[in-house]
Amino acid sequence: MTYILAIDQGTTSSRAILFDAQMQRVGTAQHEFPQHFPQEGWVEHDVEDIWDSVLAVCREVIKTTGVTPAQIAGIGITNQRETTVVWDRATGKAIHNAIVWQDRRTAEICARYRQAGCEDDVTAQTGLLLDPYFSGTKVKWLLDTVPGARDRAEAGELMFGTIDSFLIWRLTEGDVHATDATNAARTLLFDIHKGEWSTEICDLLDVPLGMLSDVRDCAADFGSTSLFGGNIPILGVAGDQQAATIGQACFQPGMMKSTYGTGCFALLNTGAQPVASKNRLLTTIGYQLDGQRTYALEGSIFIAGAAVQWLRDALQIIESAPQSGDLAAQADPNQHVVLVPAFTGLGAPYWKPDCRGAMFGLTRNSGRAEIARATLESIAFQTRDLWHAMQGDWGAEADVILRVDGGMSASDWAMQGLANYLGAPVDRPVMQETTALGAAWLAGMRAGIYPDQDGFAETWRLDQRFDPDLPEAERDAAYARWQRAVQAAMAF
Ligand code: G3P
Repeated sequence: MTYILAIDQGTTSSRAILFDAQMQRVGTAQHEFPQHFPQEGWVEHDVEDIWDSVLAVCREVIKTTGVTPAQIAGIGITNQRETTVVWDRATGKAIHNAIVWQDRRTAEICARYRQAGCEDDVTAQTGLLLDPYFSGTKVKWLLDTVPGARDRAEAGELMFGTIDSFLIWRLTEGDVHATDATNAARTLLFDIHKGEWSTEICDLLDVPLGMLSDVRDCAADFGSTSLFGGNIPILGVAGDQQAATIGQACFQPGMMKSTYGTGCFALLNTGAQPVASKNRLLTTIGYQLDGQRTYALEGSIFIAGAAVQWLRDALQIIESAPQSGDLAAQADPNQHVVLVPAFTGLGAPYWKPDCRGAMFGLTRNSGRAEIARATLESIAFQTRDLWHAMQGDWGAEADVILRVDGGMSASDWAMQGLANYLGAPVDRPVMQETTALGAAWLAGMRAGIYPDQDGFAETWRLDQRFDPDLPEAERDAAYARWQRAVQAAMAF
């Protein structure tokens, strides 16, 4: 029997998932690791925590399933994107904690470049915006702030990578410094049209080219690791949202997926041509196979499942995330409480790093249920914001059906609400581990044990379609309340 090991290095936990030759999951191990918030708006990870958790989950899943390393035909890596690591080429040690994608410390650097009129050029090359979300200004901050870092970077002693790249370096024990096109496309340093690092933007952000990794296809040779016994090749790499797009088999232009994890990330496949957004969405690489880039429009929302965690951990009005749907279902439908969960600023299509959360429409009768309902609805309204922006950019609205995945997609109440507020059907697949499956498929396809793209797309199975059942007038009135609430939160 042959297996594929998927490593899913996410924002709050690392997971290892073992798939068999039929792409069925045979084992999973998951370890959470600490989050560091050294200042308001700053978010860091200790890269040794990340590394230890990745090694531990891989070893655990191999042990608990009884699979031998010799039976593992390949590793697929998928990861939290944009999170930035700078490490020493000789020792492999990071010079600072990783700066996480949610971190807003470079908002001022971004504002300075915007005021200098740089944003249009940056967007034209990278498809991204001058927002602290992306890696480029985080690298600049590290080189400008950590004593001696800039000199060492210029002397070729330091390397930069997103988490995939750092893991590849560690797994191959310093043999390979590489990334894939989807992760490169999130750095703000990569020209997505030419498929190469942009010397112009690296100059602008003072990032020495020598720190950057080799950019490869998503299914390619990324070296091999002997850390689990045997010699296992790393054959697939994709950023987690792109891996979910692949796992959802969104291979045709017009297909769209939305993943509800910490945040919510919606990607629409736009085919071989990048579509420049007129609505403040991102243009990004969906995947790159056999040297061919497939592009996507992306809407990134920073707080989705994290708002449900807020109900659980900060407000303590639920004990576990799955209770949120049951509680929301008990809410008085005549109350119109609206939550704008801008806890770490607003992402697409607003891009307001300084905006903070707000709640509107409270009365003396508003209680736990109304707040839970407002929280789940806020996620639907944010998805509708993206949906509108995508329709504006893509124009083929009638054909788009949304495929959903991620923790919150398990809630029927939340998914029915999503369909209602979108006014469009929402499809939930049987296989909801789409991120890990996408990474596994890349590696397994490269290893020759999994089917090609068409064959893989045929394995996608519908669990449930949610059709909208809310009158249009109610839908529009609710969305208008959301829009007013967002404007008020941004004005605060
Ligand atoms: O862009 C950030 C995204 O890749 C993080 O995803 O699932 O770790 O919250 P997740």
